[in-house]
Amino acid sequence: MNRAAILGTGSCLPRRVLANTDLEKMVDTSDEWITVRTGIRERRIAGAGEETSRLAAEASRRALAMAGVSAEEVDLIIVGTMTSEKAMPSCACLVQKELGAVNAFALDVNAACSGFLYSLDVADKYILANPAMKVLVIGAENLSARINWQDRSTCVLFGDGAGACLLTGASDGRGLLGSRLMADGRLWHLLHMDAAPSLNPDLIPEDYAGPYIRMAGQEVFKYAVRAMQDGVAQVLAKVGADPAEVALVIPHQANIRIINSLGDRLDIPAEKIYINVHKYGNTSAASMPIALDEANREGRLAPGDLVLFCAFGGGFTWGAAVLRW
Ligand code: UT7
Repeated sequence: MNRAAILGTGSCLPRRVLANTDLEKMVDTSDEWITVRTGIRERRIAGAGEETSRLAAEASRRALAMAGVSAEEVDLIIVGTMTSEKAMPSCACLVQKELGAVNAFALDVNAACSGFLYSLDVADKYILANPAMKVLVIGAENLSARINWQDRSTCVLFGDGAGACLLTGASDGRGLLGSRLMADGRLWHLLHMDAAPSLNPDLIPEDYAGPYIRMAGQEVFKYAVRAMQDGVAQVLAKVGADPAEVALVIPHQANIRIINSLGDRLDIPAEKIYINVHKYGNTSAASMPIALDEANREGRLAPGDLVLFCAFGGGFTWGAAVLRW
């Protein structure tokens, strides 16, 4: 049986580091509050030449180099993002141009922080239909451009970056065993970001207050823990695996307390959970592919390992996936 297997991973982070102590000078916050409540110590902030598509393209180049595959061999590029530098064309088309992936078609998936998980699922469907396809799946964000830097309840949480992986069909047992995706649009108002205002003055809402990320943090926190636990339980049941069989969990990196309580509820020990939220904050769709690439390059993944992904984000969107490395 063919499955979508990962041939290579890559990631790219902006150069500029913004530490908690820097934020202390910008808003009424403290290194201690941020560290204790979120686990975040610093995050990366994109500058000139580090637009979403550029970070995505560089992460992709690194994934292609690891896989030993040329850009011309890529058939499809999928970018999970909600912060591309252009509304049109898609970020995926800009990545295609940057890479010279002239034989690929390209599309974006907007599922907020679940964007990588949703993109992986779309790639899986294409690869199951045509196992020879080579698909780049990317998560990339420039959240610093969409943050109200006067709002201490959000500006300390987010960061920029990109991660990528190249997938193709494999019939040796490796690959995506299953995924479970969910959404509840009724709760959109708990975590959202307005688009840029309409250019038609008649359509600009009176209460339009800027295209910033807004979040009811505590409510999102509670939903995130419960929803990811449920998503993981469902996907493990679907593929017939036990939590004890999981070699490494790669969760969405939003808050160390969310990750820890998920680990407790699933009874998965901390050493089996990959964490880098302290270095990058919440990079939304980019967080899991960045973590995957770091785990891979650190040698945390061995052939045959069961890898569990889980994410939660605006929409609400959430879900989980299990992959045999
Ligand atoms: O990626 C998508 C999913 N996103 C998430 O999963 C994020 C989920 N939410 C969270 O991670 C947490 O809810 C936050 C980190 C956002 C907030 O932590 P919390 O423990 O829920 O704090 P809170 O919102 O209840 O605020 C507690 C206090 C408040 O003060 P009072 O009302 O108790 O006096 C806030 O005003 O902390 C205050 N506060 C801050 N203080 C210092 C809020 N932000 C800050 C800040 N620095 N940056």
